[in-house]
Amino acid sequence: MVNQEDKFKKVISHAKEYGYVFQSSEIYDGLSAVYDYGQNGVELKNNIRDYWWKAMVQMHENIVGLDAAIFMHPTTWKASGHVDAFSDPLIDNKDSKKRYKADVLIEDYVAKLEAKIEKEVKKATKRFGDAFNKEEFISTNPRVVGYKQKGEAILKRLGKSLENEDLADVKALIEELEITDPLTGSRNWTDVKQFNLMFGTKLGASAETAMDLYLRPETAQGIFVNFLNVQKSGRLKIPFGIAQTGKAFRNEIVARQFIFRMREFEQMEMQFFVKPGTQTEWYEKWKKTRLKWHLSLGLGAENYRFHDHEKLAHYADAATDIEFKFPFGFKELEGIHSRTDFDLSQHEKFSGKKLQYFDHEENKSYVPYVVETSIGLDRMFLAVLSNSLQEEELENGTSRTVLKLPAVLAPTKAAILPLVKKDGLPEIAHKIFEDLKWDFNVAYDEKDAIGRRYRRQDAAGTPFCITVDHDTLEDNTVTIRHRDTMEQKRVKIEALREIIKKEVDVKTWLLKM
Ligand code: GAP
Repeated sequence: MVNQEDKFKKVISHAKEYGYVFQSSEIYDGLSAVYDYGQNGVELKNNIRDYWWKAMVQMHENIVGLDAAIFMHPTTWKASGHVDAFSDPLIDNKDSKKRYKADVLIEDYVAKLEAKIEKEVKKATKRFGDAFNKEEFISTNPRVVGYKQKGEAILKRLGKSLENEDLADVKALIEELEITDPLTGSRNWTDVKQFNLMFGTKLGASAETAMDLYLRPETAQGIFVNFLNVQKSGRLKIPFGIAQTGKAFRNEIVARQFIFRMREFEQMEMQFFVKPGTQTEWYEKWKKTRLKWHLSLGLGAENYRFHDHEKLAHYADAATDIEFKFPFGFKELEGIHSRTDFDLSQHEKFSGKKLQYFDHEENKSYVPYVVETSIGLDRMFLAVLSNSLQEEELENGTSRTVLKLPAVLAPTKAAILPLVKKDGLPEIAHKIFEDLKWDFNVAYDEKDAIGRRYRRQDAAGTPFCITVDHDTLEDNTVTIRHRDTMEQKRVKIEALREIIKKEVDVKTWLLKM
């Protein structure tokens, strides 16, 4: 059995070997927490973005898109609160000289308690067999109840200390829990300090006239400052949404865990503008809708959970994370926030311009409330990739590595393989490629024995292999092999398009929502 740490290492090395993700500037020993997407990675990323965009924009008559610039007027970030409040509580270890996010050290401690609970549950499942009642066990077993209560109490105290900016108490908590440096085991900690996460840069040629700018730490503000432009030019009526995907930048100090926490990453955000007083109803609605979107991809309902925030960001009156079970445990994948009228009111205040909506039914103007859905594209990529990578034992005693990506997201939908490189088979295979390429991303491969080519496509995540053999010359049929079942069927060449379409079409998948 592979443990989770080994599994995660395998995901990272597989991502490199199959052209999904490379370390940035690798030939110069890399740049920490910055990554490049290779030939398969870029396709997977595009497909995830497209799946989100279709679900959010194309499927909703009252949601439109936007592509705002990364650079924004610096006052934007004063108004949004990022200059004053967008910081992480950091702690240094005096012996190892390593820096950590203090809240993450504490959350990792709680995650270990959760892992202990899971272990107890596994043991009990084995012991009691069919008679095992998980809910009852979790709520009555004294050891499990103890772990649960301890974890909850720690998170509650952490939330409170952070909200009150009581950094001394965060340090006290680390000391009381005897949390050690994960690398060295040392407990020689400094005080906890706040550190702003925005990257600064300059606009303009000369030092005297240059303007200090920030690289945006979230895409959301581009939507807020364009709220009236879009509403008026689109004649949009509340409730309506504006969606945007794009790069965001954060000077993450503790940037571990591969593409989970990056310094340059991409967000897919939607701000939904609603009548004040209706925000709770919309918040609940978007929680449900977004979870359904995740579930439609079939990564397993047991791998998702909501985590409601104890500590609310400065702009929110309710917030939750959709957490996913990554190889290193349940972590935030998407945030859903009820942001009140904070952002628009702040931009009104700092710009001196009205950002209000005239409601014809109510016959009055108001600053709308906003419910936001915000998901990291790279995190979604990691969720999909890590969940799909599987090592399978086969009946003949061998094993195979297979990337069971949801077919709708797979970089290449089908590989066309002539059985041999002669007898006219490559020509037919090329013809099939030329025909299918108008509808799908397909590949042609004639190198190596057919078995090895199948394995290569399995590991790259290609849902179908189409093999052209000598029978094809006689009856115009090919075999189509399914990645997940390895089942092979003989079909007419003309039938290929429909067979593939049925399995990779966005509509098929979104209808599962
Ligand atoms: N506009 C709201 C906002 O930015 P957030 O919770 O800070 O909220 C939203 O970020 C999502 O962006 C997260 O759920 C996560 O998926 C992604 N994200 C945030 N920081 C990230 C980082 N350093 N690397 C990769 N993804 C990140």
